[in-house]
Amino acid sequence: MLTVKDLKDLKGKRVYVRVDFNVPQKNGVIRDNNRIKAALPTILELTGKGARVILMSHLGKIKWKEPDPAKIEEMKKANDMAPVAKALQELVPDVRVSFCPVTRGEELTKAVEALNDGEILLVQNTRYEKGEEKNDPELAKIWADLADVYVMDAFGSAHRAHASTVGVPTLLKEEGKPVALGYLMIKEVENLTRCVEVAPEDRPYVAILGGFKVSDKIKVIETLLKKCDKILIGGAMAFTFVKALGGKVGNSPVEDDQLDYAKRCYTEANGRIVIPVDSVITDNFEEVEGRTIKTVSLLEGIPDGFQGVDIGPETEKIYKEQIKKALMVFWNGPMGVFEQKEFQSGTKAVCEAAAEIKGKAFTVIGGGDSASAVKQFGYKNDFSHVSTGGGASLEMIENDGHLPGVDVLR
Ligand code: 3PG
Repeated sequence: MLTVKDLKDLKGKRVYVRVDFNVPQKNGVIRDNNRIKAALPTILELTGKGARVILMSHLGKIKWKEPDPAKIEEMKKANDMAPVAKALQELVPDVRVSFCPVTRGEELTKAVEALNDGEILLVQNTRYEKGEEKNDPELAKIWADLADVYVMDAFGSAHRAHASTVGVPTLLKEEGKPVALGYLMIKEVENLTRCVEVAPEDRPYVAILGGFKVSDKIKVIETLLKKCDKILIGGAMAFTFVKALGGKVGNSPVEDDQLDYAKRCYTEANGRIVIPVDSVITDNFEEVEGRTIKTVSLLEGIPDGFQGVDIGPETEKIYKEQIKKALMVFWNGPMGVFEQKEFQSGTKAVCEAAAEIKGKAFTVIGGGDSASAVKQFGYKNDFSHVSTGGGASLEMIENDGHLPGVDVLR
């Protein structure tokens, strides 16, 4: 595959760069600009080579099934890219950034024509187009016609076979135009590939999986079982395993339709799946005032009226020991409700254990909430790689290193 480094003679060329600027924002206030920063090495390499850079990204979700057009307009307004263009301009004060508020038509064509060498144009949210998520060929053609070169740097969106991520490079490739990976993509693909093509020197390999639902993680569990030496389970999904094995889980969230799967999977794993032995529980998850918080052994079980909200101290000890023995760690999903300080301990314990093996082991966080947690707790630099894509990194693991947005460039 070509990379952005290989691209030569870019002066005056229109380079379409698919970035993932799906940043957390509300009313135009961006809470975290990390995804914008992560794309800068690619963008600045291209502007530095005199390219005319056209940036395309989605932002949030537009639910096109909504029958009321006024509501669609509201969703569009809430996901307008204009504030992102402003945030980008602040990060690259020496390069001119312009913004095109529409996704097709004369205004867009003119905005592209108005670009000078070494300048950037950010185009409106790709999801303003109904055909984006359907990979509509007519839409892909409109966007492909804007460009001479395609660069993919949207790792967080590489699991989506949309018009902007798959349709456009397919057409440009057919036209014999160069398609390449950006720097963020290269880093993400290299690091996550190491988690699926496991080298003997990366063993023991320990995966830590948390989050809410077993059903969301079935495919990833199956793949990791073929690759890992141990899978440590935390988060709400652990209670489906606990109940499946005969434990009492009180009011903890459980997916009853996954109990058979959890039992079979645990049994077949033959000791390689590790589930919590104790849990922090509360009788009121929503309200702080007057609630009871305690730790129980899962052998005894969680009483009715209580639910598990974090792994307990014994489980922390067991998980920390396992992590400290590892030479490779893949982590996706917090151990508890880390948004509340009383239920952060399990997630922090995983961070501490990973920090202790820093430099010795290769440790990867598969984006999403666990990435937010390590940033919040100040452990980001203790991990070898913190992915910018939650869904994308999980799908890359599930599909043995394949993603539609990457495969199309091969
Ligand atoms: C993400 O935030 O995970 C990516 O930007 C993908 O967003 P999506 O799930 O809305 O496609």
